[in-house]
Amino acid sequence: MEKNVQLTPAYDSILSIQAYQTGKPIEELSREFGIHDVVKLASNENPMGCSPSVTLAITEHLSQLARYPDGSGYYLKQAIADFTDVNVDQITLGNGSNDILDMIARSFVSNKDAIVYSQYAFIVYSMVAKMQGARGIEVPAKRFGHDLDAMRDAVLNNDNVKVVFIANPNNPTGTLLTTDELREFLQAIPEHVLVVIDEAYIEYSPESNNRGLLDEFEQLILVRTFSKAYGLAGLRVGYALCNAEVAAIINRIRQPFNVSRVAQAAAQAALSDQAFIQRVQQTNQEQMQWLAKQFDALGLGFIPSYANFLMVEVGDAKTVNQKLMEQGVIVRPLAGYGLENWLRITVGLPEDNIRLIDTLHSVLV
Ligand SMILES: Cc1ncc(COP(=O)(O)O)c(C=O)c1O
Repeated sequence: MEKNVQLTPAYDSILSIQAYQTGKPIEELSREFGIHDVVKLASNENPMGCSPSVTLAITEHLSQLARYPDGSGYYLKQAIADFTDVNVDQITLGNGSNDILDMIARSFVSNKDAIVYSQYAFIVYSMVAKMQGARGIEVPAKRFGHDLDAMRDAVLNNDNVKVVFIANPNNPTGTLLTTDELREFLQAIPEHVLVVIDEAYIEYSPESNNRGLLDEFEQLILVRTFSKAYGLAGLRVGYALCNAEVAAIINRIRQPFNVSRVAQAAAQAALSDQAFIQRVQQTNQEQMQWLAKQFDALGLGFIPSYANFLMVEVGDAKTVNQKLMEQGVIVRPLAGYGLENWLRITVGLPEDNIRLIDTLHSVLV
């Protein structure tokens, strides 16, 4: 990119940020290829949509759109506090959990500091480091997951680490760390280093429960979202749970109305329907097992996943991805993560998954 001397960004590292590649929208593929029955398995959205109670809650708020939302998110925070058994002052609301990740970096990381994250972990962690002009320390992955021993060493061997990001389950690899592994890691990390466990996909791993770690470690931040299992990606709501002092700092830089009125009402309704979440988990589990069998039959390797997507080794992923798109199937190539041979495929509804497998059969011959 050509540099304009008058308009330089705050930090040179901003120029090395690749704008975030979102999954191709269905409408765009329809326009490009003239296909109308597009299947999108690219952004780990919930193919079952959201709880019916959400629609009702949204409708009730439509007459109030001329009014600003409650900037404190009182009712939603109360509902999250009840659900997670924390105090309201331990909660920060975000415009999606990306907003939370961004706020954590802006609140705590300067250009003299460093952020530690794993190779093959969610790409936003390296983006926020560059955004702050901070050093991003990428620790090589172990069997496609976080190598917590190596991450601990990276923290201990660099004085200026302020934040560690851990995605659990990890995107895009789908790996999961146990609570015991995380506890052992936290015990070795100095108290002035914040450890962020990004639980965007945690509802797909109901056996996993790291909430208790919050009471043990003051430096821990758990980040969650309504975009995945709750099916509200289009509304943008996420939240952080952490100790009240850390939350108070993050809240100082939060935009006053970062979660819209409709989004707050929808998230509250979504949280109250845990039976829906159980159906989502179960369907995801069944469909993931079915997909795994099909990948085996196709001779494709994949990483066992604890989330709602599978990372599959297809050889020349760029070509396979292009051919899938031409037939109306959108998945996610992972070259941006240095995984040129892999695709990340979101678990869809049974009919989506059948279409994916049929299309893969025709593309791979
Ligand atoms: C690990 C992880 N964290 C955070 C996010 C951000 O999601 P949102 O901003 O929609 O909450 C994503 C989205 O893909 C993700 O995969």
